[in-house]
Amino acid sequence: MVSRVIPVDPFDLVLFGATGDLARRKILPSLFHRFQIAQFCPTSRIIGSSRSKLDRAGFQEFVAAAIREFGQEGETGEEDIAAFVELLDYVPVDAKGDLGWKELKTQLRPDVIRVFYLSVGPSLFPEIASRLSSCGIATPDSRIVLEKPFGHDLASAKALNAALSNHFSESQIYRIDHYLGKETVQNLMALRFANSLFEPLWNSTHIDHVQITVAESIGVAGRGEYYDRSGAMRDMVQNHMMQLLCLTAMEPPSRFTPNAVRDEKVKVIEALEPVLQENIARGQYRANASTPEPDSYLDHAGDPNSSTESFVAMKVEVANWRWAGTPFYLRTGKCLRARESEIAVYFRDPPHNIFEGTKGAHGNVLVIRLQPDEGITLRTTIKDPGPGGMRLTAANLDMTFADSLPEAGRPQDAYERLIMDVIRGNQTLFMRGDEVEAAWSWADPIIAGWSQGGAAPQAYDTGSSGPDDSLLLMHRDNRRWRGIGT
Ligand code: BG6
Repeated sequence: MVSRVIPVDPFDLVLFGATGDLARRKILPSLFHRFQIAQFCPTSRIIGSSRSKLDRAGFQEFVAAAIREFGQEGETGEEDIAAFVELLDYVPVDAKGDLGWKELKTQLRPDVIRVFYLSVGPSLFPEIASRLSSCGIATPDSRIVLEKPFGHDLASAKALNAALSNHFSESQIYRIDHYLGKETVQNLMALRFANSLFEPLWNSTHIDHVQITVAESIGVAGRGEYYDRSGAMRDMVQNHMMQLLCLTAMEPPSRFTPNAVRDEKVKVIEALEPVLQENIARGQYRANASTPEPDSYLDHAGDPNSSTESFVAMKVEVANWRWAGTPFYLRTGKCLRARESEIAVYFRDPPHNIFEGTKGAHGNVLVIRLQPDEGITLRTTIKDPGPGGMRLTAANLDMTFADSLPEAGRPQDAYERLIMDVIRGNQTLFMRGDEVEAAWSWADPIIAGWSQGGAAPQAYDTGSSGPDDSLLLMHRDNRRWRGIGT
C-alpha cells in the first residue's frame, strides 16, 4: 500500500504532567505510533516535565514501560521503542515556583516548532502560560495545548480564556476535546458534506428526531473525587456530547477551514433553547452484584451523600429554520449495559402509505456508530422475500469501516491525529474560546437548576440502560430509545 503518511516538520514538544495518567495511557503511546510510521523524524524532541525528580534515563524507562502497557497490540517492537526514547529528555519543573524554567529554556531550539502540552489540572494553566511567557520560552508561533476540563462553569472558563490571552493569541491555543479526533466523528462531516444524498433531507421536514448516545460500561473507580465535582453534565455533555450535536446539526461551512467550521458550531450552540428540568433525567448508579461493575457510585465518590449524576438524558431543541420541531435527545452515563456510542437519525415516515396497513413498515434510521465497531447503518424497509403477498420488513444497509476499508488498519487513537494537527498548526478539530464559553452559557442554568431544586438523581442498576425517568422522557413523546448493547 502507498504510504498515506504526510510527514510533519521537526518540533520540540514540552509535555507538562509527563508522568501523569493521561500522558502514560494516551499522549506518549500516540506520539510513539506516529513516530513508528515515520510521520516525524528523529530530529524532533519530546521533553517531559513534571515535579517528579526523574533524570533522562528514568523518564526513558517510564515511557518505554507506558508504551509496552498501553501501546497498540502488535505494534510495540523493542527496536522501535529504543529508537523513540532517544527523542526524549526530561526537565523537572515546578509549575508554581522557579525550579526548572531556566533549564527548560536552554533545552529548546530556536528553529523548530515549539509545542507546550499542558496535561495538568486546569488550575495550573494560567501559571504555566504566564511562566512560559515571562521566562521567554514561548515564541510568537509556539502552540499551547490544553486538556479538558476547560473551566467548570462560564465564569471560570472566561477567566481561563482571559488569563491565556495575556500570553498567547487564539491562533496559538489548542483546546482538546478528544471526541473531535475520533475517526467516525470526522466521518460525520464527510458523510454530510461530501455526499449529496443526505443534505437535502437533513432538516425537520424529513427528520423526526435524533438520538445521541454515549454509553460507558465502566464506573468512576479511581477518579471518583474528580468526577464527583463534575458529574455527567460537566464531564461529557458540555463538551463531547455538545461536539457531536454541533457536527450533526451545523450548517455546511463554506470551506473546511478552522474558523469556517467553528463559526458554524458556535451558531448551533447559540441556537439551543434552555432545557426545562422536566425534559431532563438524571441518574446515579447503584450496586448490582450480578454485573462486572458491582459497586455503587457512592462507593467511589468520596461523599456518601453525593447527589452528583453519573447519567443524564435530555431533550434538546435547536431553535433555527433547519431544526425547529425536530428534537435531539442526548443520553450518556457510566456503568451502563455496554460501551456504545452512536448518533441515530430517525427519518419521518413516508407521507402516504400505498401498502395495506402499516404492519412491517419501519421508518428509515441512519446510525453512525462511533465506537466500538465503527461504521454506518441505514435501516430501510423492504419487501419480505418469498410468498405471502406484499409484506414489509426492515433490513439494514450496513457498513463497518473495518470490513469496507481493511487497508486502513486499526482505528487511530484520537490523540494521534490531534497531536499531529497541533504540529501542523491546524485548529479545525480544536475548540475555540467562544465555543467553550457558549457551551457553558447553555450548561450553567441546567446545573444551577439542579442545585436550586435539590432533587437527588434517580438510582439505576449498574449494567442497566439507565434510570426509568430516561425511558419516560421518550415515552411522553411517543418515542423509544435505541437499545444499549442489543
Ligand atoms: C473523558 C471523560 O473526557 O472521556 C471520561 O472525562 C470518559 O469520564 C471519557 O470516560 C470517554 O472517552 P472515550 O474515548 O472512552 O469514549
